[in-house]
Amino acid sequence: MAKLKYRSKLGEMPSYDVTEREWKIKVNANESGMNLPPMVEDRVMARISRVAFNRYPNEQLDMLMEDIADNYRMSKESVFIGNGSSEIIEKIFYCFGGKNHKIVFTQPSFSMYHIYAEAAEAVAVPFDLNEEDYSLNVKAYVNTVNESKASLCVVCNPNNPTGNVVSLEDIEYIAEHTSCAFLVDEAYIEFHGESAVSLLKKYPNMIVARTFSKAYGLAACRCGYMLAAPAITGMIAKSFMPYHMDVLTLVTADAVFSMRDEYVPRIQMVIAERKRMEDMMSGLKGFKVYPSHANFILVRYDKAVEMNKYLTNLGIGIRSFGNAPGLTNCMRISIGTREENDTVFKSIKNFVEEQG
Ligand SMILES: Cc1ncc(COP(=O)(O)O)c(C=O)c1O
Repeated sequence: MAKLKYRSKLGEMPSYDVTEREWKIKVNANESGMNLPPMVEDRVMARISRVAFNRYPNEQLDMLMEDIADNYRMSKESVFIGNGSSEIIEKIFYCFGGKNHKIVFTQPSFSMYHIYAEAAEAVAVPFDLNEEDYSLNVKAYVNTVNESKASLCVVCNPNNPTGNVVSLEDIEYIAEHTSCAFLVDEAYIEFHGESAVSLLKKYPNMIVARTFSKAYGLAACRCGYMLAAPAITGMIAKSFMPYHMDVLTLVTADAVFSMRDEYVPRIQMVIAERKRMEDMMSGLKGFKVYPSHANFILVRYDKAVEMNKYLTNLGIGIRSFGNAPGLTNCMRISIGTREENDTVFKSIKNFVEEQG
């Protein structure tokens, strides 16, 4: 068979590991543990029943953009919607990438940043978070961004998978002291509260990315958005195909967005459960628990690899990081329902106690 001529370097690119199975309890992808609230589901079904399937989805995209823009008191042109914030982030990397363009992102963080930088044929510049607590040395970060003459720098806030945050003052410091595009990935912001959206007007190089996949439990729909100056959204928009969003996602996301108050008790429940899990796990022998502002907790434990196998055999899916940079023996456990959390904790405790 003739050798196929793929794009150069494609073969060397890592793949995102999404191997899944039928878990009894799935706390490995920071999803919501609950499906749509019943009232939201009714609204979604009613909206879907009125969809004109024969038409390209124009007005539904406009409607969602307007609803999001109104909420943030921004212009519609400041909003751009994508298939998950993944698509938004990938396109931002693409638009600021290209030969000799450097993209600085923190490490450990969302592993896709590295992959998107490589896919964009940019130079990936990972910046190490402090080893002890994963905090960000903001001044050193700014120096790296400026010295490398980066085209884009990225901060994930709260950070996945470490759960910690960069303060708004530090975000503002970065915006003030850099001149490249500055993306703040706020995939988990609802579990923290202090969004950088308030800084967008003052710092026109900033971009905020958001998602419906986490706090709003819409991972199945793939919907996310960016907020930025119209000059930026207009450029990023050029990299999308026409009618890139499907109508089912758009009407579902719009129904969810217009009923987002329904999610407040759920978000509060996750925050309370996160605290309960942190407290319980802190009592386990040999466990280091990193304080989290997201819907997951990162823990470090010498026998993480063995524990992951043990949990897998019980049908409990967590995320184990093996030897990933800065994450040796770390495991990330998403917050599920109270019952799920209890079962996960009991199983972890049993394993730890068996070790003596
Ligand atoms: C930090 C971060 N950003 C972005 C995403 C992408 O989310 P989605 O494409 O579902 O919006 C994720 C998903 O896990 C994430 O952890």
